Amino acid sequence: MHWIEAFHIIFMVTWFAGLFYLPRLFVYAAENPSGERFSLLQLMQRRLLVITHIGGGLTLVFGLVLLMGHGHYLAAGWMHAKLTLVAGLIGYHLWCWRLVGQFARGVNRRSSTWFRWFNEVPVVFLIAIVILVVIRPF
Ligand code: HEM
Repeated sequence: MHWIEAFHIIFMVTWFAGLFYLPRLFVYAAENPSGERFSLLQLMQRRLLVITHIGGGLTLVFGLVLLMGHGHYLAAGWMHAKLTLVAGLIGYHLWCWRLVGQFARGVNRRSSTWFRWFNEVPVVFLIAIVILVVIRPF
């Protein structure tokens, strides 16, 4: 189980690298909405999205394997809270995916300031989930 946990954490870090950096690319693309720089940012978004999908998908796979090995965690409050936050994180991931599609079609209407705030959301998820799994407050 320790190997599974190690890979769970490795892919979690990969997932968050994408969830932190994709919105930065949205900020830059919102500030440079045309020309060569915009095309490069679109390409970077699409490539980073693939890595983010891989990180997220494998975090979930290894997390579910861990959960099967520790069935009693399903009765724990901290695990319920963690899984609820993971559902929110998946929603954020899907939103990023949709935004990549909007930039690809050149139909973004949001400002760079909006994306700067959007960029802060995964920080809250990361802090809350890590505190839940390490401290297990309830
Ligand atoms: C479907 C999604 C997930 C499931 C089912 C899941 C399940 C689990 C399970 C069962 C453990 C083992 C706990 C132990 O034995 O001590 C674990 C460990 C851990 N998980 Fe997840 N996890 C998921 C997603 C995530 C996400 C998104 C994050 C990060 C934001 C995360 C961060 C961690 C960390 C840091 C540990 C190590 C905790 C420790 O050893 O103290 N997990 N996870």
